[in-house]
Amino acid sequence: MKKVWITLLVTVLVFSAIGMAKTKITYFGDNDPNSAEAILTRLFNSSQDEIEVEFLLQSWSTDDKHTALVTRFGAKDPNPTVYLGDVIWPAEFAAAGWALDLTPYFPKSEQDKFLPGTIKSATYLGKIYAIPSFTDGGLLYYRTDLLEKYGYKPPTTWEELKTIAATIAKKEGIDGFVFQGAQYEGLVCDAVEFIAANGGEVIDGNGNVKVNSPEVIQALEFMRELITSGAAPDKVFTFMEEDARMAFQQGNAVFMRNWPYCHSPSNMAGDQSAVKGKYGMIPMPKGPKGSGGAATLGGWMLFVNPFASKAEQAAGVQFAKFITSESAQIIRNLVAGNAPTRIAVYSNPTVLRANAIVETLYPIMINAVPRPVTPFYAQVSNALQEEFHAVLTGKKTAADAVKALERKIKEIYE
Ligand code: GLC
Repeated sequence: MKKVWITLLVTVLVFSAIGMAKTKITYFGDNDPNSAEAILTRLFNSSQDEIEVEFLLQSWSTDDKHTALVTRFGAKDPNPTVYLGDVIWPAEFAAAGWALDLTPYFPKSEQDKFLPGTIKSATYLGKIYAIPSFTDGGLLYYRTDLLEKYGYKPPTTWEELKTIAATIAKKEGIDGFVFQGAQYEGLVCDAVEFIAANGGEVIDGNGNVKVNSPEVIQALEFMRELITSGAAPDKVFTFMEEDARMAFQQGNAVFMRNWPYCHSPSNMAGDQSAVKGKYGMIPMPKGPKGSGGAATLGGWMLFVNPFASKAEQAAGVQFAKFITSESAQIIRNLVAGNAPTRIAVYSNPTVLRANAIVETLYPIMINAVPRPVTPFYAQVSNALQEEFHAVLTGKKTAADAVKALERKIKEIYE
């Protein structure tokens, strides 16, 4: 009997020692409607017994996530150990010392397996600071049933989008085109898309401010016209991605500009979605001065916190590698519809069988247009958000807004 007790005691001690040896780390993951991030974190935790990751839910918008992290890093907080960061952050976070240099763990041979645009945006002054997890590009979602009912083909130009949206909206008593019009980063993405689709740009690759041009003015005027023509409802002044998704998914809009993730929830069966089987996804239309539609490059990547301890950093790197691995990207695509950053996933047979749209996504993602790359992006974005919103809501003319922007951006860059 004594022997049995001793064996039991030893077993308990060994197991608690293993338990104690676990490195506990924290992860600021994505608050996605499909819970892909939480699922992947659980999978990681159950796959091995050395690391335990606590998933910390963040608020939805990228601006709020940015504020939360900047506050923590300002205080050299070792948490979160790992965070999912926006494609627009690497330059700012690297320059500020808020992102661990991942170059030793993410060699060129591995980087070559990813879409080049995602690697470029994770790189700052020759070093790589994040591992891309999923990429984003703006898409036009449209109601196939309604366009057919009124005899329209899917739009490829701005004029077509405006006319079809305004006409069907009036006849059906629903919204025409919904997009991200609130004063936040999402509006910058939408505007950069309209600008690029009209052959314009805000800042060129060499840091020259190009915003005061006829192409940009016309693009901003068109965004305003969407409202004044009745093609878009003025409630978009407060719309973020999720507001637009709800409107579209509930059957209350003809068109929506949004990222690929909306496909999974909109495609749900039963009373979850009113539009299952009744919509398509195509590239955004082009402007009169442009040569084709454009998608803004969005997306999210895994960063490791340099204020975490060495052991936590090592565990964090392991977790980041798992989340961005080929199998995790396949799961993420199947669960959440996100566009992969790994090239191989676009031709994975399981993914293609379950999610044929991935084929449409590839050319859009590979050609997506980046937002300005600068350590001062947050300031540049604030200026863009303010001026674009003033034009959209009719408080300023597009010509005045681009003049103001030219001045503000030059001041930030000086
Ligand atoms: C998406 C994009 C991200 C962008 C944000 C704007 O999350 O992936 O890059 O900044 O939308 O709302």
